[in-house]
Amino acid sequence: MPALRMAPSLLAADFARLEEQVAAVESAGATMLHLDVMDGHFVPNISFGVPVIASLRKCTKLFLDGHLMITEPKRYAEAFVKAGCDHITFHIEVTEPRAECNPDISGARADADSPQSVVEHIRGLGASVGVCLNPSTPVSAIEPILGVVDMVLVMSVWPGFGGQTFIKEVLPKVTELRQRLAEHQRLQIDGGIDPDTIGEAAAAGADTFVAGSAIFGTPDPPAAMKRLHHLALEAAAKDRRR
Ligand code: DX5
Ligand code: ZN
Repeated sequence: MPALRMAPSLLAADFARLEEQVAAVESAGATMLHLDVMDGHFVPNISFGVPVIASLRKCTKLFLDGHLMITEPKRYAEAFVKAGCDHITFHIEVTEPRAECNPDISGARADADSPQSVVEHIRGLGASVGVCLNPSTPVSAIEPILGVVDMVLVMSVWPGFGGQTFIKEVLPKVTELRQRLAEHQRLQIDGGIDPDTIGEAAAAGADTFVAGSAIFGTPDPPAAMKRLHHLALEAAAKDRRR
């Protein structure tokens, strides 16, 4: 299992002080930044896009983890990689609709790209690739690409907004994925991660923890991030002793 790491989400940061906020979590040991891109179609919210990421790239060397909550990842991935993303995660729900997927997925288009073609496209741009599952999307939906992605992201809230309550019903899916993923493949969890929930997520098998509000919504983001990381390490160690 890969080393446990935090992925601070800038969605909850003060957008007028991004450089300072990035430096703060970097000083606390962050190795990556989670960037939530929303298009107002796949999710009912709009966040930030290419120009903001290009500016961030100029002020940090941290690994930039792009989470594209957009209906056309293949169309826009190149712009995000050129802007500085080291990694791109796309949602399985926007790819070629599959029977196992939730039928009410708003993002899927009739002429959507296949998951394989999105993975190949992103890899061809030189970035690593992740695939994301909404809370109700089963592991079977990503079966054809499970073995070829660098990371799987399990949403533990419905994507679109920070500050929501952790949906603990996704934890069995985390455990199932941990058992099926190879040693080098990362398993990220995103949404509602805070001091009360990170332990369960770590014990279930997640290794990369996105946290927005629980870091940037506190008066001391570096201390909050270190505490979360510590709680995850502690829970994972305890789980291994069982
Ligand atoms: C939600 C985003 C998350 C969000 C998490 O759609 O994908 O990354 O920033 O925010 P918190 O940690 O506040 O739940
Ligand atoms: Zn995210």
